[in-house]
Amino acid sequence: MLVSYVKSSEYPSQCPSDGLPEYAFTGRSNVGKSSLINMLAGNRKLSKVSGTPGKTRLINHFLVDSSWYMVDLPGYGFAKASKSVRQQFSNVITRYISERESLTLLFVLIDIRLEPQSIDLAFIRQLGERGVPFALVFTKADKAPGAKQRASVERFRRALLSTWEELPPIFVTSSEKKAGGEEIIAYIEHINKSLQKP
Ligand code: GTP
Ligand code: MG
Repeated sequence: MLVSYVKSSEYPSQCPSDGLPEYAFTGRSNVGKSSLINMLAGNRKLSKVSGTPGKTRLINHFLVDSSWYMVDLPGYGFAKASKSVRQQFSNVITRYISERESLTLLFVLIDIRLEPQSIDLAFIRQLGERGVPFALVFTKADKAPGAKQRASVERFRRALLSTWEELPPIFVTSSEKKAGGEEIIAYIEHINKSLQKP
C-alpha cells in the first residue's frame, strides 16, 4: 500500500476535489486516531502522535494507492467542561461530516478500556440523524485482556441497541501491537470494489 500525505484543510471546500472515495477517522481526543492511521499506512511518522489531546486540529488527507483517501480528523470532547456535549464537536468535524460528498465511511474510534461514554453516544446519534455511514473501531486493545475486550464491546453494542435497530461493523485494534489493521483495509477495499461496479 502506497500512502502519501496530500494536504491539511480547515473547510471541506479546501479538501481535494478529485472525488476519490474518502474514509475518515474520528473519535475522542487522544483515542488513537493518528496512531491507527500510521498503523494502517505502515508508517509511524505519517500523522503526528501525541500524549497531549487535541494534536490534530485540521482535516488531513492521505492518498492511498492513487485511488482513495484516508482522512485524519480532529478529535472531539476536548473542550472546557462548561460547554455542552454538542458544542464539543468542533465546527471542523461538523462541517466535514455534513458537507463532504466524497465521505464514503466514517470510522468512529472508541477506547476499549472505557465504559460507553455519553459524548461518543451523542456523536453517533448525530451521525444517524445526518445519515452518515459509519463503523466502530475499538482502540488500545493491548491495554485490556481478551475477556475485558469482549465485555467492553458487548457493553457498547447494548448501549447502541437501545436506540438503533442495526449495529454498525465493529473492529478491534491495537496500534501498539499492530493488530486489527488488515480487517479494516479489507473492509475498505471491499467497499471500493462495490463502488466501481456500474
Ligand atoms: P488527537 O489528534 O490529539 O486527538 O489524538 P489521536 O486520537 O490522534 O491520538 P494519538 O494517535 O496521537 O495517540 C494518543 C496517545 O495514545 C499516544 O500517547 C499514543 O501512543 C497512545 N496510543 C494510541 N494508540 C494506542 C494503542 O493501540 N495502544 C496503546 N497502548 N497506546 C496507544
Ligand atoms: Mg491525532
